[in-house]
Amino acid sequence: MGEMRNAGIIGIGSAVPEKVLTNADLEKMIDTSDEWIRTMTGIRERRIAVDGEATSDFAIKAANMALQRAGLEPKDIDLIIVATVTGDMLLPATASIVQNAIGANCPAFDLAAGCSGWVYALAVANGFITSGMYDRVLVIGADLLTKVTNWTDRGTCILFGDGAGAAVVEPMEPGAGMLAFELGSDGSGASSLTIPAGGTRQPVTHENLDTHANKVVMEGREVFKFAVKIQGEAIERVLAKCGLNTTDIDMVVPHQANMRVIESAVNRLGLPMEKFFVNLDRYGNTSGASIPLALDEATQAGRIKKGDTVVVVGFGAGLTWAAGVIKWAY
Ligand code: ACO
Repeated sequence: MGEMRNAGIIGIGSAVPEKVLTNADLEKMIDTSDEWIRTMTGIRERRIAVDGEATSDFAIKAANMALQRAGLEPKDIDLIIVATVTGDMLLPATASIVQNAIGANCPAFDLAAGCSGWVYALAVANGFITSGMYDRVLVIGADLLTKVTNWTDRGTCILFGDGAGAAVVEPMEPGAGMLAFELGSDGSGASSLTIPAGGTRQPVTHENLDTHANKVVMEGREVFKFAVKIQGEAIERVLAKCGLNTTDIDMVVPHQANMRVIESAVNRLGLPMEKFFVNLDRYGNTSGASIPLALDEATQAGRIKKGDTVVVVGFGAGLTWAAGVIKWAY
């Protein structure tokens, strides 16, 4: 075991499908309107994987981009974690498919915590690195929720998009990189956001395929109430853990689920809207990919700079939540 050390991100990459699905396209598919979707969610369009495209295709692209930006080779990576709820297959882990495809020689596993998954995975990577067990961890968030979307359910099918984001994490001096995490789960809300069939409780049958039970089922209002409450609380708790105040925040990169959920945190924390990075208008809710995809865009756009104090916060199925404070080093 090495001496105690911090861990931080040294490169990020992302990838999304080429195909765009706009609100106008959705108006032709279901009883909805561009105006309703924009007002209720803030989403204008999303990217959709086509037939034959799978989660690992985008995870691999994002991973290669992150490695290139970090100036590292696949052989330099000690561990790969893929946060996903929509793996290529139920078995094996998508992380093993990514490991082979990029030419890495290291352990690999998937982690499932819904839309909080990537921040959970970042915390796991942080633990492995600060303990001295591994030096370089590839932390990927990748989901193709539109493959498990019920396109006849207007309450959910307008929300989701597809994508992947990846970060390379390595040791840093104390005070740099990840400063604190706040992770949580309240399984009493498990039934609010599920894919009921396809697991061991309801194996796939012709009958449940006919009722779309192998697709996302959501109690939108319940999830919305939970998200509004937990997002602000998680940010406050994670800041307290590292002795910081809201005024110390340079940028919040929240899970990109719904503009009204993000605005609730803006109001609660009393920060200006410019301190919240938003790209859900163009991608919708990409689940585990949402935060790394947003971090990548924010970094490329110069909205996040080296030395900034960045807060990431996610919430989702479980119900789970996860927040982290990162002294940006990239
Ligand atoms: N177009 C037009 N009308 C619609 C649509 C639509 N796409 N969807 C629902 N409506 C209607 C409903 O039928 C209902 O009409 P009624 O009052 O005549 O019955 C009305 O709009 C209100 O419906 P609600 O479902 O109660 O609407 P709500 O205010 O809850 O908004 C929304 C729905 C936008 C989905 C909201 O609940 C939400 O954003 N929830 C959070 C979802 C979320 O972020 N989930 C992801 C979590 S992360 C993860 O792990 C995947």
